[in-house]
This record gives sequence, C-alpha cells and structure tokens, in this order.
Amino acid sequence: MSKNRLPKKRIAIYPGSFDPLTNGHMDVIQRALEIFDEVIVAILRNPAKKHLFSIDERLEMIQQSFNGNDALKMEAFDGLLVDYARMKHAVAIIRGMRAISDFENEFQMALMNRKLHKDVQSVFLMTGLRWIFTSSSIIKEAAQFGADVSDMVPDPVNRKLLEKFSGTDLPRQPRAPKKDPR
Ligand code: PNS
Repeated sequence: MSKNRLPKKRIAIYPGSFDPLTNGHMDVIQRALEIFDEVIVAILRNPAKKHLFSIDERLEMIQQSFNGNDALKMEAFDGLLVDYARMKHAVAIIRGMRAISDFENEFQMALMNRKLHKDVQSVFLMTGLRWIFTSSSIIKEAAQFGADVSDMVPDPVNRKLLEKFSGTDLPRQPRAPKKDPR
C-alpha cells in the first residue's frame, strides 16, 4: 500500500440505499465515527431500483437524524463505488454486518472493490445485537401495514414513514409501550 499518498484526514465512505435509514445504520455510523475523522454516508443513485423515498428525502432524513455532527457528511453518488471513494480520497468503505447471511454478498463485493481499487479497505462493523434483524425492507413492509416501527428508526424517519403511509386505508397498530414490562 502506498502510505505516502494517504491524506491526513482519514475519510470513510458508508455506501448504501438507505431507503430509509434505520437504527441499525445509525449504530454503524456511530461506530464508524469513533474510528474515522470523517464519514460520508453515500446513497447510490440507482434508477433501475424502485425506492420508497427519493434521494433528497433520504438525504434529508439522514441530515435530520444526525443534526450537528461535522464529521458526518452525506451525499448521492453515481457509478462505481471505488471511483467515488477515489474521488473523495477515502481510505475505507464501511459496511454493516448483521447475521451470517450478509457475509457472502459482502465478501464478494469487498473482493471486487479491492480488485478495482487496491488502496481502499473494506471495513465491516457489527451492528449492536438489538439491530441484528433490522433492515430497511422489513421496516418498510411492516410500516406499510400499520405496524409501529418507532423503536427501529430515528424519529425523522418514523415521521416520514407515517406521512408516506397515512393515505393507506389499513388500520394502524397502537404504539407499543416504551418498555417491555417483562
Ligand atoms: O444498501 P445496499 O443496497 O446493500 O448497497 C449496495 C451498494 C450501493 C453499496 C452497492 O450496490 C454499490 O456499491 N453499488 C455501486 C456500484 C458498484 O460499485 N458496484 C461494484 C461493487 S460490487
């Protein structure tokens, strides 16, 4: 690795769809901020994939959820992740790891990214145990049918989900009590 070319500020990219941001993502971002000087949450602009939230909505929800942390940046990117990482002088690509089922896909992606750009390291961060089964897709599905997902997403995301699905005729589930009495 060409040490001399590494910029002083250690920048990491945290790429993904973030449709929408979950508490699992928040957990990974917080861990990444402890290691790197700057973390860029990078949303892939992918017209081929259908998303619930627009890029602007997703960026805004991230901004609102992390209000005021200068070490965290967010933006959209196109094309190859490694090209974006190169442009940003990033030293690492962060990916969250939940269960073993994440491994195969992540392993393949990391090796491909290394082949394309050997100077950027893939760094896998384990989410907190309580977020192991959290994913954007399962949250969207539950919220769509009226489930209360407020303890799985940051408040700005919860508000947006309620707004998005408020036109739905389905009955909404009552809010779960904050603490499980058991
Ligand atoms: O949240 P996701 O959908 O798991 O994120 C996947 C993402 C955006 C990280 C991945 O699809 C990606 O990096 N796409 C950019 C295109 C690219 O670089 N592909 C080659 C790497 S395998």
